[in-house]
Amino acid sequence: MKKKILFCAAEAAPLAKVGGLADVVGSLPAALRGQGIDARVIIPLHAGISWRKLGGQKIFSFKISIEGKREIINVYQLRIKQTIFYLLGNKTYFSGGVYEGDSVKKYLFFSRAVLAVLSDLPFHPDIIHAHDFHAAPIIVELASLSRQNRPALVLTIHNLQHQGWSSLKNIEAFSFRPSDFSSDAKNKQGDWFNLLAAGILAADKITTVSPNYAVEILTRAYGQGLEKLLYRRRRDLVGILNGLDVDVFNAAKDKLLLRNYQTADIKRGKYLNREAIRSYLQFPASTEPLFVFIARFSNQKGLDLFKSASLHRLAKRYPFQLVFLGSGEEKYEQLVADLSKNLSEMIRVINVFDESLAHNLYAAADYFLVPSRFEPCGLTQMIAMRYGAVPIVRATGGLKDTVQNNKTGLVFKDYSAVSFANVLEKALKLYYQNQTEYLSLQAAGRAQDWSWAASAPEYRRLYDLLGAI
Ligand code: GLC
Repeated sequence: MKKKILFCAAEAAPLAKVGGLADVVGSLPAALRGQGIDARVIIPLHAGISWRKLGGQKIFSFKISIEGKREIINVYQLRIKQTIFYLLGNKTYFSGGVYEGDSVKKYLFFSRAVLAVLSDLPFHPDIIHAHDFHAAPIIVELASLSRQNRPALVLTIHNLQHQGWSSLKNIEAFSFRPSDFSSDAKNKQGDWFNLLAAGILAADKITTVSPNYAVEILTRAYGQGLEKLLYRRRRDLVGILNGLDVDVFNAAKDKLLLRNYQTADIKRGKYLNREAIRSYLQFPASTEPLFVFIARFSNQKGLDLFKSASLHRLAKRYPFQLVFLGSGEEKYEQLVADLSKNLSEMIRVINVFDESLAHNLYAAADYFLVPSRFEPCGLTQMIAMRYGAVPIVRATGGLKDTVQNNKTGLVFKDYSAVSFANVLEKALKLYYQNQTEYLSLQAAGRAQDWSWAASAPEYRRLYDLLGAI
């Protein structure tokens, strides 16, 4: 019998994508199929998901009562490239974007709705695989049942920074039992609940998205206050490196690219994409290397390492152009806007996330910047390598697991503006003075396999362990 697994998450590509979480939730089920596993996905029906156009259908609806109000939930099913997705539609909680509005209430509602729909779905999972705090309450509640009467419970941590603190009032409003939450997942007074912490304590197995991050999060520097809990659960914690959907991220076939290219014509292919991007972004025509940064603008991503003065100093000796694509916290949007005001001829900023532009930037870029403060896995550096953009990353989390210094990219250690400026200088020198070496980094990066081929079997082994409980 095929093992049945239900992924519960906030987002899944291609339906709704804000970050890498969506790519993983959207692509891992297909890879698991190759391991003889039937993995399906359940997410909210966020604004902008056109289920009809995608050939979906409404399968049933049901009601739950929240804060004395009856909420109607419509359940839709659709299939994308063999993977079945269930979408939960509700006007009160899911009429906005993925993280719009009060995320804690939204995902307490989502978790409640998933728990309520489980027995009526035409799919009875052996394992519930929840992703991040958004689905952690599902695990907390199911864990209170005896093991014979419930599915096995896996929690994956994609980002420890967002833990989801809920008031007691909301826990009760969404019909969760405060006593199901371990006291170690509450504040001292017992009136605030840390959803992710509760999930970590309740899950049968916990995974995170790279081997190195699984080690880092046991330390104070990276544990975001949960290092002790995680340490307690270390025997059930494993780091499995994320993979990519290598059919989607494929420079030779990517439909979003202006020009497709293969290894044989990479030089010309990247040149044409770069010229197109330069003219689209109204950069002056040039032969300068193009640096690209694509990420959510948050404190995780290292934006405060960019300093106008040192970029200016570097560019005087080794001219370059730099593009930022992303949006997020106002503080960082402002920081990037200031940079581009100071260095208007060499910097462009695009503040809306645009998947198609992102792909074209990977194809155009000579260097791809990921100077993160912490990075559970990071997918962009892998995508960049596939598109022949040499990654410049900080030695942290999954970045450390995926980029080899001076072989497939450039790696710097300290989270400081000085080390960052040094690695940029090294990159520029390499580009201007040693093209052969630059091209060998590019070629080595392209030769890496970032598919799920290695990691899907690791998930299968983990699921197999659970079957034996
Ligand atoms: C989060 C993490 C990122 C990871 C992604 C997918 O966005 O910040 O490092 O790659 O989840 O797991």
